[in-house]
Amino acid sequence: MFQYIKENENYKNLINGQWIGTEDFIKIKCPYKNLILGSIPKMKTEDIDKVISSAKEAQKNWSSIGVNERAKILHKAASLLEANCDYLSKILMMEIGKDINSSISEVKRTADFIRFTADAGKNLEGETISADNFPGFKKNKISFAQRVPLGVVLAISPFNYPINLSASKIAPALIGGNSVILKPPTQGAISALHLVKIFQEAGIPDGVINTVTGKSSQIGDYIVTHPDINFINFTGSSQVGKHIAKVAGMVPMMMELGGKDAAIVLSDADLADAADEIVSGAFSYSGQRCTAIKRVIAEESIADDLASLILEGVKKLTVGSPEEGSTITPLIDTAAADFVEELIDDAITKGAVMLHGNKRSENTLYPTLFDKVTSDMRIAWEEPFGPVLPIIRVKDKFEAITLANKSEYGLQSCVFTKNINDAFYIANKLEVGAVQINNKSERGPDNFPFSGVKSSGMGTQGIKYSIEAMTRLKSIVLTIDSCES
Ligand code: NAP
Ligand code: G3H
Repeated sequence: MFQYIKENENYKNLINGQWIGTEDFIKIKCPYKNLILGSIPKMKTEDIDKVISSAKEAQKNWSSIGVNERAKILHKAASLLEANCDYLSKILMMEIGKDINSSISEVKRTADFIRFTADAGKNLEGETISADNFPGFKKNKISFAQRVPLGVVLAISPFNYPINLSASKIAPALIGGNSVILKPPTQGAISALHLVKIFQEAGIPDGVINTVTGKSSQIGDYIVTHPDINFINFTGSSQVGKHIAKVAGMVPMMMELGGKDAAIVLSDADLADAADEIVSGAFSYSGQRCTAIKRVIAEESIADDLASLILEGVKKLTVGSPEEGSTITPLIDTAAADFVEELIDDAITKGAVMLHGNKRSENTLYPTLFDKVTSDMRIAWEEPFGPVLPIIRVKDKFEAITLANKSEYGLQSCVFTKNINDAFYIANKLEVGAVQINNKSERGPDNFPFSGVKSSGMGTQGIKYSIEAMTRLKSIVLTIDSCES
């Protein structure tokens, strides 16, 4: 059984094939019990130059290894991940407070993701284009366009999926022939370092995968603006994403950011089904998902009935420890819990009808449901990243669309109705990356295109799309002399 890192130890970063520590460390605490899980290196800017130069050098050989060979290594990594699922899911649970069942799912989903990516890489194709279809060019010029790697990919992942959202950058980058520098979230770094160890064990050559940990305020700008970074693949908050986009300048990037996904419920919907989807969509992992349903927009005529059904579901949610498999667990830190409480207090002060919740025990926020939320309340617009759900009442589908689109975010939305014409009408009008019909918002399956518009991001994630984003078409043009003259 693979056991690189044990609890309560000083972890190291992988740099050019060696696990290297530093003098300064950051302590990682368990979010739900009084336990230090270990410490991660607090790297300085001067350490980062070494990481980037080794990634740059190693990428040259890696890109010349055939895709088939790269795919074999990824398959091995997927198998190792699965073989160590029990151990890894416990580390994940203890580090980010995700309930044990969801932690196991995250690890298994990641193994599937890596396998699918390895196979998708083998199916990447270029194209040949003849010049004679453009005016003024003759038939004897041909472009051979092939996908080539970009170089060094900087992957920055968020705390809520430190294994899955690190691997969903690493695997497509690697199969595309890039080298990778992973900057994991501080809270989540231990899980992510385990993942990287697995890639190393599987046979990724020295320097092709590297890690950087430390205080983002000290090293963040340095790494994202480094001239030898060829692509930034970032998932996290809109605030940090926008900052990176501003400072990084002309480097290609993919940004998967925050959301305020709406569940629009029309009067003809199956309300019981809609309520089930809404409760699980809004409250799983205590709402700490970018795709969580973060507002319900309900037609007035069914709003009372819908609110009662959602309330029934909310009352059944389990609150407690991730180890017991509870859905509602302590939030990632006190600042996160304070922020959610602020939004709840604001809604109460401004007259929202509280149907359930508004109870806090340390960093556990009990699931909170508001009805009759109005546009002057912060909870109507801001992303809580916690277990609080507002219901906003509208007179019809047109008002629902207007309200949904007023958000600064545009990740996903859902429409609940039995009328396929209404479903497509609304879906076409919503300014988001994807619309789910009669289903909660969610990223998976991971081969689907996943993207956000407005403050929710740019670029498209999803296995094939991620590989395409981290490779480019390079053309070699052949001019053939005519044999007829
Ligand atoms: P975050 O605070 O923005 O952090 C995300 C990552 O960026 C972490 O690794 C963080 O490192 C790093 N970082 C912070 N400042 C940086 C800087 N100046 N330069 C470089 N890196 C920097 O987000 P989070 O709290 O981890 O995650 C929650 C947010 O992510 C929510 O808004 C959620 O909606 C969004 N999210 C979006 C998606 C999506 O696919 N659309 C998926 C998951 C999460 P440190 O931890 O060391 O600060
Ligand atoms: O938190 C953001 C993730 O991309 C959401 O993924 O819909 O599978 O929970 P999920």
